[in-house]
Amino acid sequence: MRPQEIIRIKRDGGILSRANIDEFINGVCDSSWADYQISALVMAMFLNGLDLEEQDALTYAMLHSGEILDFSDIGVPKADKHSTGGVGDKTSLIIAPLVASCGIAVPMISGRGLGHTGGTLDKLESIPGYNVNLSTDEFNRVIRKCGFAMTGQTADIAPADKKLYAMRDATATVPYIPLIVGSIMSKKLAEGLDALVLDVKTGSGAFMKTLEDSKKLAEALVRTGNEFGVRTQAVVSDMSEPLGKFAGNAVEVFECIQVLRGEDDDAMASTRALSLELSARMLYLADSEPNIDSARKTVETKLTDGTALEKLRQNIELQGGDPSVCDDPAKLLTDGLYEYRVVSESDGIVTEIDTFKIGSSMVDIGGGRARAEDSVDPAVGFCTHVRIGTAIKNGEPLATVSCRNGDQAAAVQEKLRAAFTISNAVPVVRPKLIHTVIG
Ligand code: URA
Repeated sequence: MRPQEIIRIKRDGGILSRANIDEFINGVCDSSWADYQISALVMAMFLNGLDLEEQDALTYAMLHSGEILDFSDIGVPKADKHSTGGVGDKTSLIIAPLVASCGIAVPMISGRGLGHTGGTLDKLESIPGYNVNLSTDEFNRVIRKCGFAMTGQTADIAPADKKLYAMRDATATVPYIPLIVGSIMSKKLAEGLDALVLDVKTGSGAFMKTLEDSKKLAEALVRTGNEFGVRTQAVVSDMSEPLGKFAGNAVEVFECIQVLRGEDDDAMASTRALSLELSARMLYLADSEPNIDSARKTVETKLTDGTALEKLRQNIELQGGDPSVCDDPAKLLTDGLYEYRVVSESDGIVTEIDTFKIGSSMVDIGGGRARAEDSVDPAVGFCTHVRIGTAIKNGEPLATVSCRNGDQAAAVQEKLRAAFTISNAVPVVRPKLIHTVIG
């Protein structure tokens, strides 16, 4: 069929067959469909919808547009975690070594930050020398040696998604669940996993702002994972305030190593708690523990006794990085940055945090990307001093921004002050770290 005939079916509200969808994805990959035809079909899908069969056919075609990794000979279960993204969302750097130290292989293919959310690859690159561009052979070798590897998506993994995602980004068609499911799951299913835990964020800094929408996305992702033979669960976790203490790149790696060293403070408690819970669920789903409680005990022990930190050290060495950051994480931090304190202008309680504004301020000072081709400054960052529910007095600090100069600070100071709502008018309920678990 010609592209315009397939587009016409969806434009008129019809159902696409598997063959139609295969033709579309082949056309995306071999460039026989023009960009305007791809965009037209994606917009028709967005407006007129995809049913479950179409959604599965799309995921299948996108998954099979590239290589599917095969670790079947590795002799241990394989599990991974995927987060829909947030601000200060750094758990991968704790989870991968922690779960690997419990005997599960973690083939973690991660992404870069885009817009207000950060990305694991950018964070890892703040470790001097760390290579996030492993070939498939190197990826295999590192996993077999230390149980986990962290790398970027190669051109061979779900190539259809790379092109489609760029086009959805440019045509305002990202926020549609069946398209999100195809995009996320085609990449994760290509890792050849036995188990997958999805961290679906909800709140002002999340891609899905309401609990209702986040649950719908979580349900759709879990259904698809299980349908494709991977034991899948989703944790809907809070993003109505930044996770943990820091947001940025080097500062987030610093925080993770502090947690792995047991030197974390109260402000890092949510990072530690969420990392433990997601790790425990990975163990449980991978059948390495009889129940979630025993899985929780195992991960707590491996974190507390330093085994996970040693796993990270081994991985950093194998991926070309400087392992001494495990002994002295302060090495990751840059001296002489310009520090700006955002202070409260009244007495009251922090009732709301616009986490999106914090993430977008990070982009403004160079710590994130406005466009995929931008580079990031690993040194800059944000440190939060309050959470929702904290009582604060006029003049006390809400947050500290570390940036390159006063001009950068001036550019974000109003946005950051506006990110915090201080009031005494309403009773404040602290958001739960984990709202619900699906699957
Ligand atoms: N993240 C992805 O990888 N794909 C989407 O479509 C949305 C978020």
